[in-house]
Amino acid sequence: MRYIFSIVVVAMLISTTQAQKLTSPSSEFKLNFELDAEGTPVYSLNYKGDQVIAKSKLGLELVDDERSLMDGFEIKEVTNSTFDNTWTPVWGEQSEIRNHYKEMAVTLAQANMDRHIIIRFRLFDEGLGFRYEFPQQDNLVYFVIEEEHTEFAMTGDHTAFWIPGDYDSQEYDYTTSKLSEISDRFDDALTGNASQEQFSKTGVQTSLMMKTEDGLYINLHEAALKEYSLMNLNLDESNLTFTSWLTPDAIGNKGYLQAPAVSPWRTIMVSDDATDILSSNMTLNLNEPNALEDTSWIKPIKYMGVWWEMITGKSSWNYTDELPSVKLGETDYSKTKPNGRHAANTEHVKDYIDFASEHGFDALLVEGWNEGWEDWFGKSKDYVFDFVTPYPDFDVEEIQDYAASKDIEMMMHHETSGAIRNYERHLDTAYQFMNKFGYTSVKSGYVGDIIPRGERHYGQWAINHYLYAVKKAADYKIMVNAHEAVRPTGLRRTYPNLIGNESARGTEFQAFGGSKPNHVTILPFTRLIGGPMDYTPGIFEMDISKLNPDNNSHVNSTIANQLALYVTMYSPLQMAADLPENYRRFMDAFQFIKDVAVDWEESHYLEAEPGEYITVARKDKQSSSWYVGNVNGTTPRKTKIDLNFLEKGKTYAATIYADAKDAHYKTNPQAYKISTKTVTSKSTLKLKSAPGGGFAISIKEK
Ligand code: NOJ
Ligand code: CA
Repeated sequence: MRYIFSIVVVAMLISTTQAQKLTSPSSEFKLNFELDAEGTPVYSLNYKGDQVIAKSKLGLELVDDERSLMDGFEIKEVTNSTFDNTWTPVWGEQSEIRNHYKEMAVTLAQANMDRHIIIRFRLFDEGLGFRYEFPQQDNLVYFVIEEEHTEFAMTGDHTAFWIPGDYDSQEYDYTTSKLSEISDRFDDALTGNASQEQFSKTGVQTSLMMKTEDGLYINLHEAALKEYSLMNLNLDESNLTFTSWLTPDAIGNKGYLQAPAVSPWRTIMVSDDATDILSSNMTLNLNEPNALEDTSWIKPIKYMGVWWEMITGKSSWNYTDELPSVKLGETDYSKTKPNGRHAANTEHVKDYIDFASEHGFDALLVEGWNEGWEDWFGKSKDYVFDFVTPYPDFDVEEIQDYAASKDIEMMMHHETSGAIRNYERHLDTAYQFMNKFGYTSVKSGYVGDIIPRGERHYGQWAINHYLYAVKKAADYKIMVNAHEAVRPTGLRRTYPNLIGNESARGTEFQAFGGSKPNHVTILPFTRLIGGPMDYTPGIFEMDISKLNPDNNSHVNSTIANQLALYVTMYSPLQMAADLPENYRRFMDAFQFIKDVAVDWEESHYLEAEPGEYITVARKDKQSSSWYVGNVNGTTPRKTKIDLNFLEKGKTYAATIYADAKDAHYKTNPQAYKISTKTVTSKSTLKLKSAPGGGFAISIKEK
């Protein structure tokens, strides 16, 4: 492993109100920090000479605290340093990551309270990260956060790609609007299970992507969210200033801290080139290094699932349609009537194993294998899952043996129904069950209100649980893919067994009425800034009524667009989500899904515009092959891509999976054309993408 490390520390012991300045390694960013007349910390940020964050206040309001950590501060000490090293992720978009920043740690004291905090700024070539630190001291021991008041003052009425600032769901389509239009557009933006009382009509989630009138791209998010509540942003429309808005607990408090403690990093990325936002590693670099000694058991996975047929309503998770009258584990299934639609039955699972094995997949997910689904929305909370009791038609051992004989790993599924304490009580036995039967990864889920009632999906209590489940999984050498959990903030660097999250509107919504056709051109700028998404691409049959006559949903995407997602939506966990019978109809297109890699040596972001298009090229970590993906919004588009990323002097065979001339996500989504071409690093390719379309290219050395 290449390891460059340099650190220069200059500490100034001062007592001053003088402005403190920090410049990024490339000198493109300049940070200014000072105290105002009340002793409130204030920062501003310039990029290439223009102000991108106007003067913005910093501070925290505490419960039952005379003064809070808001004002009355003096600067006690300023420590400057430079950091530069290169590290090797266990898996990722590239095999080596440089972490290069300049740091300024400002110690602020509230003199008459005899207590102090540190605000630590790290300025990278992509932008700024900063956090609050609470060192151990006599006069700040346990404290409760009433609210964090971190401001992000915008310098204009930017265009924003936003979803409402919910405390429990991120599964929204994005709205594109001016900042000043957020409140007007808010009611339309609310879909799904959101309740408006939860938040203000100017509250939005991070990662928030914006574009200024001058063509600057600004992204606000957070990194290393642990032991703290998630931050939404609330906009003051009168001055276009966002302020942090933490997720409350059941009694309205926003966080319980004990010094020494730190807040998550607040991040601001800025560039005049949108591809820089996609290629940035700032979020990862602000997280702690890998905490797991042995990572040999952590592996990227390409999988299929007994899943889409339940999502579309063709089959069911539950075994019977009768509501259980007894506690889980006590139901006598020989006395219940099977509904005949239970997909997780041994014979059917074996058919999936055959298909997945024949086409070279690593794993198979099976949902609805365990008792409890008759009441999984939790009408009677006595009937909660125990994660170890299979339905009578699911033979765990027989399936495990069969899968092993076909070189397929079974992927476990734990739907918790949001009953977090119940899950924690069963966690050890659930993971032991997985170890015993050879399951190496688990998809977990947190559908419904969090139990105990009143807690929120993104409050500190639930956030502590998600990490607890991931750490404990590591003890059992289990990889975790959590759905409905808090959106990622780069923790995968520290816990690389966290191989996936949903935490956004995934493909399932294409079967719940559809998603906007440009959704996948926004997600990499928003949700994926924090980490990979289990988006579950690969749908070939767009007319869902063909699977379930009662479901009239339409998948708003072409087949070529579905293929491109394996490259544009980075994830070490990629699913081929459709049914085998739909793949059998399009085996030539399915070839791309079979071929595409899931772990990368390098990634090149060729062109991008949020809401419009993204084109990415990645090189397989295991071979000399490259894969290119383009996803397109609703405007038909022509592009020319330069293959200069290929190794010079080598000749490659490119297979191009493109939209046919008349393809369209709505009217003609299955129209694609496959062509082949010999290419080198000097080649360029001219390609067209249909509305809601795109292209995928595999490039193999000859
Ligand atoms: C919602 C998840 O996103 C989906 O993938 C899963 O199948 C269901 N919950 C059931 O757990
Ligand atoms: Ca979900």
